[in-house]
Formats: sequence, structure tokens, C-alpha cells
Amino acid sequence: MQLELVSVTKRFGQTLANDAVSLFIGAGEVLALLGENGAGKSTLMKCLYGYYRMDSGQILLDGRAVSIASPRDAMRLGIGMVFQQFSLIPALTVRENLLLAYPQAPAWHGRANSAAILRLLGEFAPDIAADTPVAELSVGQKQQVELVKVLNQQARLVILDEPTSVLAPEEAQRLHGIIRQLAATGRSVVIITHKLEDVRACAQRVAVMRGGRLAAEVKETGVDERRLVELMVGTADVAPAVAVLPQSGITRLELRKLSCRGEALNLRGIDLQIAAGEILGVAGVSGNGQDLLADAVSGLAALDEGEVLLDGELLQGPVTRHPDDPRLGYIPEYPLKNAVAAEMSNSLNLALRGLARDPLFPDRQRRWSRAEDLMEAYDVRPRDPGLASGRLSGGNLQKLVIARELSQPRRAVVACYPTMGLDLQAARAVYEALFRQAEEGAAILWISEDLDDLLSYAHRIAVLYHGRVAGVLPAAQADRTHLGQLMAGGRLS
Ligand SMILES: Nc1ncnc2c1ncn2[C@@H]1O[C@H](COP(=O)(O)OP(=O)(O)OP(=O)(O)O)[C@@H](O)[C@H]1O
Ligand SMILES: [Mg+2]
Repeated sequence: MQLELVSVTKRFGQTLANDAVSLFIGAGEVLALLGENGAGKSTLMKCLYGYYRMDSGQILLDGRAVSIASPRDAMRLGIGMVFQQFSLIPALTVRENLLLAYPQAPAWHGRANSAAILRLLGEFAPDIAADTPVAELSVGQKQQVELVKVLNQQARLVILDEPTSVLAPEEAQRLHGIIRQLAATGRSVVIITHKLEDVRACAQRVAVMRGGRLAAEVKETGVDERRLVELMVGTADVAPAVAVLPQSGITRLELRKLSCRGEALNLRGIDLQIAAGEILGVAGVSGNGQDLLADAVSGLAALDEGEVLLDGELLQGPVTRHPDDPRLGYIPEYPLKNAVAAEMSNSLNLALRGLARDPLFPDRQRRWSRAEDLMEAYDVRPRDPGLASGRLSGGNLQKLVIARELSQPRRAVVACYPTMGLDLQAARAVYEALFRQAEEGAAILWISEDLDDLLSYAHRIAVLYHGRVAGVLPAAQADRTHLGQLMAGGRLS
């Protein structure tokens, strides 16, 4: 199917999120939608998906104007969207989840639907057995189930909002393959992304948004990547200033025989030491216990055994937990899960840490002006302390958490995918904020999917596999092959 957005405009109060955007998507075409945080990418696609109602503009489907007032309308027209937050029910199997989502439910036991599900799984996700409980799937697999769900609803245009931001390189490659396969079957795909790798691997055309407008459209073939980066964020200079950090050798953060039970897997006997000023990277295919490790160190998850020490003092143990210790900065995997309250204002969310101790908190005016300063320093847009944080774009929400957690000196920082969803310039600023913390003596536990970044900026890299530390290597002696072996459950050769 051929789709055309004509002069789509969408406002949220004062914010002009989409300003007369026109965009064409051909049949069997993969279009990459790029642009800095807050540029209006998600909003534009949510208008197309009927999640938002546009203020003005038109959608033409195969040349005919259509009205899309809800996701149900969009689905009926063959438009499907996969969001970053999955909407699967962990306790149910893959098949049950897919049956539940069928538009003609309660065709629960419908044989035909079941057969269609198996066919689609076989075609696009052959590694996933229909009777596996969703809780046992990796992040990449859950995403594939979401995709099959949309295909089972007969989508001929699939919109993916930053699908690779949570995927390890191998999982991302698999998704690229699936996207090419979708296009080969005549379906159209829009992939919103901040990663040039996604563009390289599967896009035929690129649209770049800036400030709510369409800034440029280019064919992927022969595109100059520096130019693309410039179009996205206004400068091609996005490499962080590399911090050469003196390592003190004084152990600051220590994990001793840490064990912890999780939903899908348990952490067992984790021993790690991080020195003052040291950045310890944690690599691993997602779903090997990374988020649980971060929650355990920051006190959000209860330990079964073992302890976490900060400067030799007990920080977390099976009975002691200090989830809000001001000495520790914590950037969790999903800000909306346990870092930010979506309905609360930016100024309140920025004051959320250390509530009990913070003398500023009751003083609305000081809270407000501090929020203004922080939002300025960390470039959170729109710069409105009164706005509910849930209304920020994904990247700006991430920046809000970073601002709160990294704007004051910490003794230790746990950063779980801290640059997730950030445009290249914002990602650079986050790295620099992390380096600054390390320079001032913090121990940094940095969980990442990006091996190149880990190899460039971490001092040592620990690999997590099935809830255990499979190995720890000095970054200078590690390479992708080594790490890849450990990540896949192998040993060092
Ligand atoms: N529900 C909402 N209410 C108010 N403002 C909103 C809402 N959704 C989006 N906005 C605003 O619209 C603008 C565009 O946001 P959008 O989420 O489309 O950006 P984006 O390009 O997807 O950014 P990111 O890369 O960070 O995900 C932002 O200024 C954002 O704050
Ligand atoms: Mg977005």
C-alpha cells in the first residue's frame, strides 16, 4: 500500500509538535525517520496510527483520503505500530498473547487464527515456540512477538518506534533481517531511529525532522553519514571528549557474592569491585540479568544473599536496603518504570531523590528555579518545569532522569543504558557527565549494549551471562570477538 501524509499539523498546548509535515511512504519501502529528541517523530507516527488526532492535514491511502480517529481505525486500514513499551502479558504464552490481540476477539479458540499465528511465527520469528510463556523470552524476542501481533492484525504498513534502542547488536541485526523480509513481502515499514546502523542496514529512504518540520529527505544510497548527522542534530561533531582517567586503586563500590531473584532469571554470586574514578562496563545480551543487577545495587530489588558495599560500608544487603541513598546516582533502564512519575511535573520529578533530606523540596519557588537550571544545563525540552514529565518526548524524559541523577557529585553511579533513545548530541552530553562523575572519584557501573562504546570508554568490561559474571577484562585487552564469545556463553580461548 502507498501512503501519503499531507501537511500534518499537531499541537500540544504551546508546543507545535508537527508543523505541516508531508511525507510519502511507498509500497514495500523501508523509510527511516530520523531527528533530534523532541523533533516530532513519535507524534507524527502516532497521528498516522490514530493514537493522536491531528489538528489539520490529510492521510491518503493509495491516493484516497482516509479518516483515522483511533488505533482501531488504523488497524482496519492495515496500519500497525510497535511501541517501545511492550504490551504483552508475561504469564501467558506467545500464542495466547497473539490470540488475545486479534481484533475479532473473542475468537479465542479460532483454529484459523491459530494457524495464521503459527504461519507468521514460522515466517518471521522461527526461533520462538508458540507455547513459550512470554516471561521467558528475551527482549528481542518479545519485540518479535509484538511485531507478529501487528502482522496478525493484517498490517501492511508497520511503524517501529526506536526498535533497536534496547537491542544487542546481534538482536538488532536479526530485526534488520526481519524488516527487509517485511519489505520483500510488499509491506511498508517506517523505522524511527537515532542509529545510523539501522539506516545502513535496511532503509531505502531517509526523512529527517527538526523542530516539528520535515528538514530533509534523502535516498539512502550514497548518503553521506556526516551530512546525515548534521541534518539530525545540527553538527557533525558528536564524539565525546574522551576522559583519560587516573585510576586510584581504592575500591569504592563492591558487590560481594550478590544473589537476587528475578522474574525470568536469577543473579548468582556476583563479585565485582569498582575503584574510585573507574568505569566498569557491563556487557551482555539483554535479558541476562542486567536490569536486575542495576536494581539490586541501587536497592530497588531485594538481595537474597551477599552485599553491596560503598566505601567499605554496607549499602545493600538481604535485610538492609537503601533505595534512595544520595551517594548513589541511578539511571534505570526505563525511566517510566521506576525513576519518574508520569503525571507529576518536571520540577517535582527533579526533586524526587532524597525527599526526606532535601530542605529545598517544600519550597516551591526554589524547586522551580532549580528545575529551570537543570533543564537548561541538560537541554531538556520544552523547558517547562510545570509540564507533566509523561508529556516529554522519550529522549527528553531520559535527559530529565540524567539531570537529576548526575547533576550532583555521587560516590557511585549505576547507569543502565544511559544513552537509550538519545540523539547523538544528547548521548555525547551524557557520556561527558558520566566521565565528570568518574573524574571526581565516583565508581561507575555502566550497563550497555554498545560494545564499541564500552571498548572506547570503560576501563574494564564485565560480561553478564545467565545471571553470572562470565568474565572481566581490561578494556585495553578486550575486543569484540572476545566479548562476543563470553556473551554467547563461551569461554575465553
Ligand atoms: N502528550 C503530549 N503532551 C504534550 N506535549 C507532547 C505530548 N507528546 C509529545 N509532546 C511534545 O511534542 C514534541 C515532539 O515530541 P515527540 O515525542 O514526537 O518527539 P520525538 O521526535 O519522538 O523525540 P524522541 O527522539 O525524544 O523520542 C515534544 O516537544 C514533546 O514534549
Ligand atoms: Mg519518540
